[in-house]
Order: sequence, then C-alpha cells, then structure tokens
Amino acid sequence: MSAVLRSSKRPRGLRRLLHACVAPNVFDFWAQRLDRTWTWDRPLARIVERRPEARDAITLVLRPNRHWRGFRAGQHVNVSAEIDGACVTRSYSLSAAPRADGLLAITVKRVEGGKLSTHLHDNACVGDVLQIGPAFGEMTWPPAHDAGWLLLAAGSGITPLVALVREHAARGMPAPVTLLYWARTREELCFADELLALADAHPDFAVHCLLTREIDAASDVAPARRLDAAQLASLVPDAAQRSVYACGPSGFVDTARALLGETARSFRAEAFTPPARSFHDGGDAVVTLQRSGRTLTVPRGQSLLTALEAQGLKPASGCRMGICNTCACGKSAGATRDLSTGEVRTEPSSALRLCISAAAGDIELDL
Ligand code: FES
Repeated sequence: MSAVLRSSKRPRGLRRLLHACVAPNVFDFWAQRLDRTWTWDRPLARIVERRPEARDAITLVLRPNRHWRGFRAGQHVNVSAEIDGACVTRSYSLSAAPRADGLLAITVKRVEGGKLSTHLHDNACVGDVLQIGPAFGEMTWPPAHDAGWLLLAAGSGITPLVALVREHAARGMPAPVTLLYWARTREELCFADELLALADAHPDFAVHCLLTREIDAASDVAPARRLDAAQLASLVPDAAQRSVYACGPSGFVDTARALLGETARSFRAEAFTPPARSFHDGGDAVVTLQRSGRTLTVPRGQSLLTALEAQGLKPASGCRMGICNTCACGKSAGATRDLSTGEVRTEPSSALRLCISAAAGDIELDL
C-alpha cells in the first residue's frame, strides 16, 4: 500500500482498480494515518518553516503533496484549515517564485477579526498540514517583455509583486522594473531589506518604499503621500511607457486605475479587499435555491455570499473578491448586480460569483 502511495504517477489501471474498491474519502482516511499529506487526489501542504516577516506578518513555507499542480509567480492559492470544527478558506498570494525544490511560501498578514489569519498566526506550527487549492490569478509575467514595468503595491499587495520581482531577478532582470510600495510604518514593511539589496545589485530595478505614517530622515525610506499624480510623475516620469501591475486595497487599486488605466502601456490590477461601492439597492429580494429547495429573503445590494452565510449556509468560497472563482454558481432567473462594476445582469441563465454579486430582484440560483 505504501509503495502505491509514494508513487508520483499511479498507473491508471491500478488507480481505476483502487477507485472501484475504495471511495476517495475512505482512502484518505486510512492513508492519512500513515502520512497526513497522503490523499487520493486532494492537494495538501505541510508547513516546513515559519518565520516573522514584519509586524503582524508571517511567512509560512509549505511542502505540497503530489496533487499540487504548480503555480506561476504572481498567482494566489486558496488555503483551508479547520477552525472550531468548521473548514475556513481564504486566499493568499504566493510570495516566493516557483522553486526547484517544489516548496511554496505564503505571507500572511494578521487581519483583525480574520478567522484564518488569526488561526495561522496564533496556532500554525511546523508540521501542521493545510488544505490548498489550485493556483489562480492572471497577474503573471508575459513570455516576453516589450517594455519596462511599474509595480504598485499597497500593504499586503506586496506579496504577489515580490514573487514577480524575485522571479525577474532570478532571470537577470530581463526588463526594467520600478516598484512603488506603500506601507504605514517601517515595521509593517515586508521584504524591505531584500528589495533594497536587489535594487543595489540590479541597475534595472528600482524600489521606493513609501511610509504613509512615518517620516525617517535618517533612512532611505522616502516620506510619503498616498498614490497621486504628482508623486507618480516625480518618481516614475515614464510611467505612461510602462506596463503596470497594481495590487492593494480596492481604494488604492481604483486610484491606480484612474491614474494609469487609460494612459499606461497596459494595466492590470487586483484588489485584496471587496469593492467598497454602494449602489443604494434598498429592500429585500427572494432567493430560491433550486437544488436544496430552500427559499430565502436577503437584502438587495448585499453580496450573495455574505447574505447566504448570514442565513447559515456555507457556499464554497476563497478570495471573497471575485478572483478565484471558488464561489461561482449558476443563475437561472432574475437580475443581479455585479458589485465590482455596478452592472446589472438580467440574462436568465448565466454564471455568477456569489462574493461580488448581489440580488437586484428575486433570483433563482443553482445551489
Ligand atoms: S470567493 Fe473567490 S471569486 Fe468568490
């Protein structure tokens, strides 16, 4: 049995035979008595290193099992752990570039009231096993570079961008990159020493760490305003000739898009907080869940994920900001509002993401 479990490619015939004899969950139950990362097909990862990265931020280095399909720098992963008897899932960016030894790293900022981040900070130890999903996200390097890059990070938005910088550095910096990184204080800066060392070593890489609540004339850290046009013009005068990736809270991403979305060579952004827009959709809507046969009344304008969770349901979810697709489900009737764009969608049969969709009227979902 153990030889089968260790095999990196289980023969298809043997797999079919095993599948006919034992259900995957039964296989997992017994296999995990031998090794907690052995499963039929679920990707799991063992924590092999834990280190502090900054105030309220830790990096966990993970060794995935053989069901992990790999990732590209700039992508994210859903991580799940059991907390008080319930499985809690959140998305984290992979902060290291792909490594020859197959290890992954996530950098976790403690979020006030955040169940999983608090659990990982307070309880996660080397040897613990976490459930992981497939990597997702489109903010990755293109196959070739036809221009320089401008990377804009605010707070935890640095994590996917530092993976991109690390991969770029490992390839000898094939195109110029400037990174602007906003944090509130020096203690909250992650990877600062490494980034400054990379800037010293590579003339084509520049980094500006911008502290919005601290000015330290003795350090290399510039005093900072929040992102605005004048600051951008002084730090990166050729921003319009660059391709731009931006990552941070939704307000930061909106500002970056307003400044560069139309003028930069190309622009892509990911927000790690849900859109903070209000569409004044008052009143309630009736949501019919076709598979379970339940009918619920939810506030119009509230994300369906939040509304369903408030009624005790547990739809699958991950990033909660419209990126990972974990919460996607079918809609067979009714109108919904896309909270990220404000658009109202009335097609009778379509797919939606619960975390960024709200009922704009009575709707039917394939749940
Ligand atoms: S939870 Fe990730 S897209 Fe909705």
